[in-house]
Amino acid sequence: MKLIRRKEKKMNICFENITHFVETKILVALLASISLFSCTSDPDSPGVEFMPDMYRATGYEAYLKKFDIDSADFFERNLDKLGYDEAPDSIKFVLESEVQQLYNVFNGGLITRKPVKGSVPEGKKPFSIKKGDRTLAKAVKMPIPYTETSLVEGKSYYEIFCIHCHGKKGEGKGSLIKKELFLKPPAYNNGSTKELSEGEIYYTIYYGKGMMGSHASQIVEEKRWKIVQYVQTLQGNTLEDLRSKKVNNTPLSDSTKVGMIMSKN
Ligand code: HEC
Repeated sequence: MKLIRRKEKKMNICFENITHFVETKILVALLASISLFSCTSDPDSPGVEFMPDMYRATGYEAYLKKFDIDSADFFERNLDKLGYDEAPDSIKFVLESEVQQLYNVFNGGLITRKPVKGSVPEGKKPFSIKKGDRTLAKAVKMPIPYTETSLVEGKSYYEIFCIHCHGKKGEGKGSLIKKELFLKPPAYNNGSTKELSEGEIYYTIYYGKGMMGSHASQIVEEKRWKIVQYVQTLQGNTLEDLRSKKVNNTPLSDSTKVGMIMSKN
């Protein structure tokens, strides 16, 4: 009796091993075929995706090229949303043209639309001088008052954005120049650079000059003018000298006001 039971047990174990082995094989084959089937010859295609909703939002996402992904079912999906199948034949063509219009709007593919030509971002005022019209910049006056606080702020921004090229005193020997990583800029307190007006300095910050790139995207308008004030002290002006200059009293742009920086004279 004992012997038989043991034999039975042995056979059971054996049988379990076999089923386990077969199950594993099936599982491996299944996984292999899934991974093979999810490959496609198109290198840009993500292949078969498990739960695509997890990766691709059903809503429209900014900067996404929506129709690269689902142009094929665009009409079908949108007509479905409008209840096309149940709609009476007489209005079907209206629904079709509605979806066609939607498709035309986004036809370029990108969800985010380009701003209309000439749009001005809220709170931003374009520099009234166009690139290249540097001579006109000479007439642009300082739009904010010359104060000690402005200069302190201007100095700290200068130390962030300019000092590594122009040096602590604006002598043109910043750390990058000392390491010979960049061409030496002119000293602020010398020659024609000493004579640069606030508008011209602002112009240079805005558009850059020669090897110096534009800093417009990194520094907002008010901070640019504060840097200009500080650069003017590095040209050799005192706060009193600067205060005696004519200041343009047009307030700087904020989200509610828009004005011109150009002074009239
Ligand atoms: C990467 C180095 C670099 C940085 C950063 C840099 N500059 Fe310059 N800057 C130069 C060089 C080089 C010139 C000389 C350009 C030329 O004359 O071709 C120059 C020229 C100038 C001039 C003289 C322009 C003229 O019309 O003669 C001014 C003013 C000036 N920079 C201000 C600034 C201010 C303010 C900042 C910081 C907001 C700044 N620069 C940041 C390299 C730099």
